[in-house]
Amino acid sequence: MCGIFGYVNFLVDKTRGEIVDNLIDGLQRLEYRGYDSSGIAVDGDSKDETLIVKIPGKVKVLKDEVERQKIDRKPVFDNHVGIAHTRWATHGQPRVENCHPHRSDPKGEFVVVHNGIITNFHALKTLLLSKGFKFESETDTECIAKLYKHIYDTNLKAGISVDLSELTKQVLYELEGSYGLLVKSTHYPGEVCGTRKGSPLLVGVKTDRKLKVDFVDVEFPDTTEQAVNHNANAQKDLGLLPVAQGDNLRTSQSRAFLSDDGIPMPVEFFLSSDPASVIQHTKKVLFLEDDDIAHIYDGELHIHRVKKSAGESTTRQIQTLEMELNEIMKGPYKHFMQKEIFEQPDSTFNTMRGRIDFENNRINLGGLKSYLSTIRRCRRIIMIACGTSYHSCLATRAIFEELTEIPVSVELASDFLDRRSPVFRDDTCVFVSQSGETADSILALQYCLERGALTVGIVNSVGSTLSRLTHCGVHINAGPEIGVASTKAYTSQYIALVMFALSLSNDSISRQERHKEIIQGLQKIPEQIKKVLLLEDKIKKLCDESLNDQKSLLLLGRGYQHATALEGALKIKEISYMHSEGVLAGELKHGVLALVDDKLPIIAFATRDSLFPKVMSAIEQVTARDGRPIVVCNEGDDVAGNKAYATLHVPLTVDCLQGLLNVIPLQLMSYWLAVNRGIDVDFPRNLAKSVTVE
Ligand code: UD1
Ligand code: F6R
Repeated sequence: MCGIFGYVNFLVDKTRGEIVDNLIDGLQRLEYRGYDSSGIAVDGDSKDETLIVKIPGKVKVLKDEVERQKIDRKPVFDNHVGIAHTRWATHGQPRVENCHPHRSDPKGEFVVVHNGIITNFHALKTLLLSKGFKFESETDTECIAKLYKHIYDTNLKAGISVDLSELTKQVLYELEGSYGLLVKSTHYPGEVCGTRKGSPLLVGVKTDRKLKVDFVDVEFPDTTEQAVNHNANAQKDLGLLPVAQGDNLRTSQSRAFLSDDGIPMPVEFFLSSDPASVIQHTKKVLFLEDDDIAHIYDGELHIHRVKKSAGESTTRQIQTLEMELNEIMKGPYKHFMQKEIFEQPDSTFNTMRGRIDFENNRINLGGLKSYLSTIRRCRRIIMIACGTSYHSCLATRAIFEELTEIPVSVELASDFLDRRSPVFRDDTCVFVSQSGETADSILALQYCLERGALTVGIVNSVGSTLSRLTHCGVHINAGPEIGVASTKAYTSQYIALVMFALSLSNDSISRQERHKEIIQGLQKIPEQIKKVLLLEDKIKKLCDESLNDQKSLLLLGRGYQHATALEGALKIKEISYMHSEGVLAGELKHGVLALVDDKLPIIAFATRDSLFPKVMSAIEQVTARDGRPIVVCNEGDDVAGNKAYATLHVPLTVDCLQGLLNVIPLQLMSYWLAVNRGIDVDFPRNLAKSVTVE
């Protein structure tokens, strides 16, 4: 996930070297969030020069690059703004030109770092290209830097002088999407604006003097008639739509930063998307709210709003953070795994973001578009993966076959290689991987490439080996997964594969109703996941009361839920070290039934789909042998009555999506079993996040 860091010193002398070190140190504190490139921007030797150093790779690589470029460390600044960024690629591969900071022009009049997504960037880019701007990257962020310059120049031509916060308001008026944003400019030396919408940003304040008050007043626009007229005219001249009006003159002074003697006080500010990078410098922080514009100049922090809404708070508190670094990184969660389980309403949404038109029930996977007709003509689809990623293939195989009518086989990468399975030029091989670096999957990919098959990646890490070596693919955009047990990647892979299957069968009119049903179902998934997550307390209690001391656990599922049973069993094994086995319910009577008695805990998936009656018959086979299963079923159902040990209710969705909801209680169960057993959930024994050995 991207990270932002900014550092401002005012009346505190710092050499350029110290400033650069500060920025790099700030970035290092953001490393845990996952990223693939980083960069910084600081002032150059002359007034109109900005130095930008950026490079793919770890922050250490950036540090080496700064040394390699022999940046002069000696110049001393008593007021300076430096900005920095770690990037998790979304718009464009991790290459130098796509790294942040981005600039408005070769001189770097405006330089920005940005987290989030600008959804109207295509329209903005077209507009800016028509104005003669030349783009250097594939990112959406570059539009913001260029928009700053465009609006600044237009103001200038009209003879209007605007301050940086007013300019920021005018830029924000044109942006759609989400952002955490910092901008610095050679036209506003020593000043920075930071703003956010849907992406966090905070300001840390460090000073030896006591702040007058522990809050900052919010400054609202001047709504007097005269100011409104003046600004409306100004906007007309610009050829932009009128924005809410702001005062162009700096009139107010930030009360918190007033000193008794009227002399400005030495102060340092740290702007960041994450308190983890600020806390080592200061515990005094102010969290910005959506649409706040923080403007720092002359050692003062001002908060501006574009407009005033009724009931809105007129101050922002400067809080004292008492948290430890580790606590901050995990937010309110005890482990990354728990955090990632709870992130699933957002991560599943992000997988679909910009790719599904829910109004017209259409899918648009940019990375596959030009390959779809070739894939439709292929002889068969082979899905290849390991572990959890393999289970996401199993979970979606049926919907692939139903929608595409192409035979689909699902392979464990190691077994596929061991068998030296035949692969032909008219095969499509789909590689599914969270990390994109799993050795077995990469070897299988090379094997398929050598045989001339078309290869498709379904990958989380942009720029990873699998993502680069496949012909085409889909990034699942789930954000970095840190916990060793894969959770949010599974649900996002699942959704990406369903979207893939839907786009392959787009041509067929007879399937429109089914498409519509699935797409409308997908739209509801994030909200439904939120509901399933409410089961946490019940599941925790179940673990405490009856599962903690067990040695073994059986999971039964059939059809779509076979994959859920396998994935649930894998989660329990790897995290809690309890033996568990996922069993196809239809196979029960062919052997496994011998294990069933009144002691062995059994979890059965009995959600409503065409196979529901068959699952019910498996449950009856279990209860007839005194087994008391824990049943996962749909809301309103009571499938095993008092013969069930417990019932976990999940919302109903379309049959092929039900596994997305059913797996979550199992993720939570494995988590709580492990916590109760005192296991370090994020680092279970013998396992690594990315398995780069055969
Ligand atoms: C791309 C942008 C995305 C932006 C969207 C809108 C990137 C990485 N993504 O997403 O941020 O919102 O355009 O224009 O720039 N690929 C592989 N193998 C894989 C995964 C992907 O070859 O395993 C290729 C795809 O074929 C594609 C490129 O990588 O050429 C980007 O894939 P993806 O991010 O899924 O594409 P979009 O959804 O179009
Ligand atoms: C299970 C788990 C592993 C991975 C497997 C494949 O929780 O994390 O089973 O799913 O090692 O890894 P990727 O998806 O990175 O190829």
